Amino acid sequence: MQAGGQAPHLRWEGKEKLSTEAFDAVEIIATKRDKHRLSDEQIDWVIDAYTRGVVADEQMAALNMAIFLNGMDRAEIARWTQAMIDSGERMDFSTLPRPTADKHSTGGVGDKITLPLAPLVAAFDVAVPQLSGRGLGHTGGTLDKLEAIPGWQAFLSNEKIMEMLGEGAGAVICAAGAGLAPADKKLYALRDITSTVECVPLIASSIMSKKIAEGTGSLVLDVKVGSGAFMKDRERAEELARTMVDLGTDAGVTTVALLTNMDTPLGLTVGNALEVRESLEVLAGGGPADVVELTLALAREMLTAAGKPDADVEAALKDGRAMDRWRRMISEQGGDPDAPLPVAAHTEEVRADSEGYIQSMDALAVGVSSWRLGAGRARKEDPVQAEAGIEILAKPGDFVRAGQPIFRLHTQTPERFERAIASLDGAVVLGANAPKLPDSVVLDRIAAN
Ligand code: URA
Repeated sequence: MQAGGQAPHLRWEGKEKLSTEAFDAVEIIATKRDKHRLSDEQIDWVIDAYTRGVVADEQMAALNMAIFLNGMDRAEIARWTQAMIDSGERMDFSTLPRPTADKHSTGGVGDKITLPLAPLVAAFDVAVPQLSGRGLGHTGGTLDKLEAIPGWQAFLSNEKIMEMLGEGAGAVICAAGAGLAPADKKLYALRDITSTVECVPLIASSIMSKKIAEGTGSLVLDVKVGSGAFMKDRERAEELARTMVDLGTDAGVTTVALLTNMDTPLGLTVGNALEVRESLEVLAGGGPADVVELTLALAREMLTAAGKPDADVEAALKDGRAMDRWRRMISEQGGDPDAPLPVAAHTEEVRADSEGYIQSMDALAVGVSSWRLGAGRARKEDPVQAEAGIEILAKPGDFVRAGQPIFRLHTQTPERFERAIASLDGAVVLGANAPKLPDSVVLDRIAAN
């Protein structure tokens, strides 16, 4: 209904109230339901109005589902991302005396790479503002891992972040402030309960709105593919990587993506304190080969994007430069880098029931088991156990005898063992012959066209 002489889309609400909103959410839902493009104005309005509480959750849920089913083209995704960025504040690192580089992983099992990576890159005079999140479901969260270190603080002021990047450790791993892309916070929570998470335009815009708002000069994306990842198949992972690289590039952020394997857990530990311990091994020049390989590959990409392609990253892990940065970074955030890490009160081993070569190890099953031990949370407000998780004692390619332990499970609450062990049922496949394993965890590299 139009009020005399006014712009279209003005609408009477009830008898008295004249809405001054530019659009009607129902029209916008119908546009996408009927497979049409959303205009820039429609996108700007619907994101802003949803953030303000004018568009109801059930309307946004319907629009998300229409997008899930009918997609968005490149221009729509770019505008949707921009509208989410514009819903909040932007950080500005342009006054720092050095380039900035960041990394984002789409999430996996045993993925502790941020911990050694951020101080390693900072050792080459590149600032690393790593605004991170917590784990939900079977994938771990970087902040949960670091909170296993006594005293360490995830919440920092913008001034403190600038100080650490400017005169301090040069790397900071902390919680993203509530002011960054608030539209995404609402939207992501809604998608989580309406089965609209696994949608390339919505995932890409969600991740990239936060990363662009964060203000990094360059960004390396670790897009996981496999059983323990969001994207189970290669084609969809490639589509997600390409979409995010395009969004970053169009926004002036040098962006590159590595597609990496997440069929098998990364490294030999899953769980918060256990993963910190393994990260320290990497920073001390050791650690499992796959974790070291991925840390070095991502560090090279970040340093190349920041204009330092010749940095010898391997040397900085071996000679203690990365470890020095780590110690500074942890202390500047209130942590004690020398404090012993918490250890679980109870452990239990899961053994091979026959002999043979391990052919495969299902990352999802290991992630779920670790979550059930208390390392992860089912709801955002749940606490996590720093001590809980899984040590992996044998991996694909190893020969095991009947009765040999494959997993050591850790928890503070032994009543959790039964369900955790049940989720490992069938997780490990044994065979008579040594399997042919991929020679690299990195499957592909996707850069700007
Ligand atoms: N991570 C995000 O930040 N957003 C998504 O949509 C999926 C993963």
